Amino acid sequence: MTKIASQVVAELTRQFNQELSAAHAYRALSLWCEQANLKGFARYFAKQAGEELEHAAKMTSHLIDRGVLPQEQAIPAPKTEFESLLELARQAQAMEERNTQGINAVYEAALQTKDYAVQVLMHWFINEQVEEEAWCLEMVERIEAATCAGGLSDLDRHIERYLEEGENK
Ligand code: FEO
Repeated sequence: MTKIASQVVAELTRQFNQELSAAHAYRALSLWCEQANLKGFARYFAKQAGEELEHAAKMTSHLIDRGVLPQEQAIPAPKTEFESLLELARQAQAMEERNTQGINAVYEAALQTKDYAVQVLMHWFINEQVEEEAWCLEMVERIEAATCAGGLSDLDRHIERYLEEGENK
């Protein structure tokens, strides 16, 4: 295996820390929902937090396989207060859009350095981000549409099934 270029190490390091930061942020969204009695959303975001840790692990495993010790960085405190579930959902959507930009930046570095192994690793993430942005959009649209009395409670009961069916399409 060829030596990994420093700019690819830098991009993978930035990105796996961004994945850890996303896990931290999803945990905060889950806690907000739990305290708002939105247990379906709380469970869904808790699962997303776990998935972000798995995403970080895919990248750190690759670095270790290439002989690089992954460097964890400080993770900023996530936003914890929201005016509404809609504001919270839009925050998740913005976070995933930033994450897509981060994945693309890793891929760009891998293209520039002809690092074929990281290019293939990033193919999985590029596809994953299509799913991540799709469920965020569906979530925002479903919350916007839940305007009648009891609409949000009803949505909360079904949100995991709706979004997980979308993920498994
Ligand atoms: Fe690691 Fe939500 O993407």
